[in-house]
Amino acid sequence: MNIPLSKRLLTCAGFVAPGDRIADIGCDHGYLSIYLLKNNIAVSAIAADINEMPLQSAKRNAERFGLDEKISFYLSDGVKSIPREFDTLICTGMGADTMVSILEAAPWLENKQYRLILQCQSKTHLLRQYLSDHGFSVEKETVLRDGRFLYTVMEVHYDPTAPRLTEGQWYFPPALARDTAPELPEYYAGLRFRLERALHGRGEAGDPVMTAALQELSKYPHLKDTL
Ligand SMILES: C[S@@+](CC[C@H](N)C(=O)[O-])C[C@H]1O[C@@H](n2cnc3c(N)ncnc32)[C@H](O)[C@@H]1O
Repeated sequence: MNIPLSKRLLTCAGFVAPGDRIADIGCDHGYLSIYLLKNNIAVSAIAADINEMPLQSAKRNAERFGLDEKISFYLSDGVKSIPREFDTLICTGMGADTMVSILEAAPWLENKQYRLILQCQSKTHLLRQYLSDHGFSVEKETVLRDGRFLYTVMEVHYDPTAPRLTEGQWYFPPALARDTAPELPEYYAGLRFRLERALHGRGEAGDPVMTAALQELSKYPHLKDTL
């Protein structure tokens, strides 16, 4: 039986290390946990969702794949009602506001024993700002295209000794600049376009963070010239 996993979620799955105990927060259909267990990548999975309907759908899907005994299901707002015994927290398909509120409610995640795999749908710069301000370091970040949209996926560690991101890097962090995905120049061009358009709309008033982001982008002229 085929596990219907989008390219976006397959990319997130690629960040999971073999042997990981995962916690998928906002699991919806549960296919990410199902895929990671079926392919013997994760050794155990916590699947949590704030809403009953998606959680029930995850349970039904797990049953179809014979994995309902291997996944622990929790009705939970973020990580509030799940056990803390896991290695890798996965949170995908949500906006920065939701992700930040989940992290804010769980300062116990500020611990080197956890790794976070985050795929943010909107205002990703605000998520990176929060992470950097709270001692998290974006170790790896990649861009992918799935259908009409470009997405980024990041791997985050708690490391309060790591240098904090600058304001410009909230939009384009060094980890993303190191990415070798073929979609990176397109992501870069789209980001530049949106920043320039937003700044143009502000006229004289400007916006120091967006201006810093454009300055950050100008450090990578090779990306500009690739398209
Ligand atoms: C757009 S879906 C994304 C599902 C899946 N993670 C993905 O990337 O395809 C968002 C899911 O997160 C759940 N959700 C939203 N806020 C949440 C929260 N604070 N805690 C747990 N789950 C949440 C929703 O009920 C929904 O199932």
